[in-house]
Amino acid sequence: MLTQAPKGTSDILPGQSGKWQYLEGLFRDICRRYGLKEIRTPIFEHTELFVRGVGDTTDVVEKQMYSFDDLAGRNLTLKPEGTSPAARAFVENGIFSEMQPTKMYYITPCFRYEKMQKGRYRQFHQMGTEIFGTESPLADAEIVSVAADMLDALGMKEIELRINSVGCPTCRAKHRDALKAFLADKYDGLCDTCKGRFNKNPMRILDCKSKECQRLVQGAPVMLDYLCDDCSDHFEKFKSVLTDMGIEYTVDPGIVRGLDYYTKTAFEFVSTKEMAQGTVCGGGRYDNLVEQIGGPATPGVGFGMGIERLMLLLGEEGISIPEEEGPDYVIVTMGDEAVSYGTALAGKLRKKGRSVLMDMMGRNFKNQFKYANRVKAKKTIIIGGDEVKNNSFSVKNMETGEQISVSAEEIDKL
Ligand code: HAM
Repeated sequence: MLTQAPKGTSDILPGQSGKWQYLEGLFRDICRRYGLKEIRTPIFEHTELFVRGVGDTTDVVEKQMYSFDDLAGRNLTLKPEGTSPAARAFVENGIFSEMQPTKMYYITPCFRYEKMQKGRYRQFHQMGTEIFGTESPLADAEIVSVAADMLDALGMKEIELRINSVGCPTCRAKHRDALKAFLADKYDGLCDTCKGRFNKNPMRILDCKSKECQRLVQGAPVMLDYLCDDCSDHFEKFKSVLTDMGIEYTVDPGIVRGLDYYTKTAFEFVSTKEMAQGTVCGGGRYDNLVEQIGGPATPGVGFGMGIERLMLLLGEEGISIPEEEGPDYVIVTMGDEAVSYGTALAGKLRKKGRSVLMDMMGRNFKNQFKYANRVKAKKTIIIGGDEVKNNSFSVKNMETGEQISVSAEEIDKL
């Protein structure tokens, strides 16, 4: 137990973190191109935020939250997603009174008590974006474009964009009636959770994972056929902007998303390979969320991209992330005097911004070179007794094998 991380969590080890930094760096850079600014919200929030925001009939709230009472009896929850906290921060800090839209992004761990499987973890990480303050379908398309740019930049090909509209409370009421009428004589076959959803939120039944419920909802009325003029118009414009942007998509009326705050646009980027956890990115519009958690009526749209799933799909496509570079120098020394000379030199070079490693394991001369090779050093600096005496040293380029002599005065050249 002591030496085992909790189920569903994993360490990002020193040998792997370079890949994470690469993906995060790429994401940050793409967000910069769109004027999205980073937001960092706390790891835990008041439980009520997610109950209100994500919705009390969703799997996330019903079954998956890591909630606990703190010592003062406040009920808190480790964030299962990033949108509700971003909306809370938008309200709490009065950002709504600034010039809109507000464009933000985040990279955050999320926590959901899920049944563990490949691509489904209890602590996972999301790179997410949110645009608050505009109803324009341009924002929806721009959000999709950020995700598409990220996947494109990585060279991913076996992924498709599926879009849908889940309407607004007005048109959803009609769909809800039609759905209930369709499901009425199938009620007895539904799982217990869906029986509970039948009156509270029948649309959730479309998203149930139970095989029997999935069978029963086949042929159910789809939201797209019930859109009001406003939602239908929004969906048409959204599609037309995607076309302007050169982004290909498939309309999939089956996309209902697992969280309750969505209105109008819903979308997912899904692997085209047959795999269980193929959804790498999901998002959509949430025009009522801010008001629902107590803020002024403010529309919003965004996405969350799972970093672990992204890595999994990169692996499936055989795409490798560039390896982390080795250090600029490994200083190879012979004798105590050389160690002390090398230590001082390492300090000077690090102050100049170079990365410099030295042996700390008492390796002999030959093994220090092995070490330099293993850590992929670009160059080695070789220091022995003569070098200390002459105040100069050899610098060997590990790729070409070329070796030059450098005097202490010439250190600026390194
Ligand atoms: P979500 O669909 O629940 O949406 O999650 C977004 C992405 O997070 C998924 O597509 C998946 O890649 C990843 N993910 C979710 N659960 C897990 C898990 N248990 N293990 C590994 N990866 C997982 C949201 O969270 C919304 N907040 C997205 C959003 C932002 N909508 C609007 N703005």
